[in-house]
Amino acid sequence: MPGMHKKKISFDLSVFQSHEELDADLQELLLAAEKSRANAYAPYSNFMVGAAVLLGNDEIVIGNNQENASYPSGLCAERVAVFQAGARFPDTPIKAIAISSGSHKFRVDKPAAPCGNCRQAIAEYELKQESPITLVISGEEGPVYKIDSIADILPLAFGNSYLK
Ligand code: THU
Repeated sequence: MPGMHKKKISFDLSVFQSHEELDADLQELLLAAEKSRANAYAPYSNFMVGAAVLLGNDEIVIGNNQENASYPSGLCAERVAVFQAGARFPDTPIKAIAISSGSHKFRVDKPAAPCGNCRQAIAEYELKQESPITLVISGEEGPVYKIDSIADILPLAFGNSYLK
């Protein structure tokens, strides 16, 4: 029996200096995410997030964060978008998700990666469709991040393989 060993888990983060460096389809998706940010309902945090989901049929489904006076009852942009995609196109895989954050009160100068709950929610669809979901993330300024698979930022994910 082999002894204890350490296993390194790492991933490649693509860092772009501007939107223009992205492929055209991802540029368009990020633009859709930026536009959908305008309809975020974020009176409590003033942190507005837009998400845009690109589907296998090339439809784009958007979402934005929806807050609530009872704070935990609100929902992040990413889950609003992927749940809407699941509701409208249950059998169509997700190719990519763009996420854009901004605020009227302060400047978002770096990409905000999805929260843990959203990573778990997105991972569900990646496991279901058995193909990677690309993430593109940006703030109002600063670099744009591209991540090739949600599994990259949710290592050792819990999924349906544990539920027998
Ligand atoms: N939020 C998102 O919509 N997505 C994220 O990935 C991080 C946080 C929202 C939730 C809340 O409305 C506000 O941003 C501040 O946490």
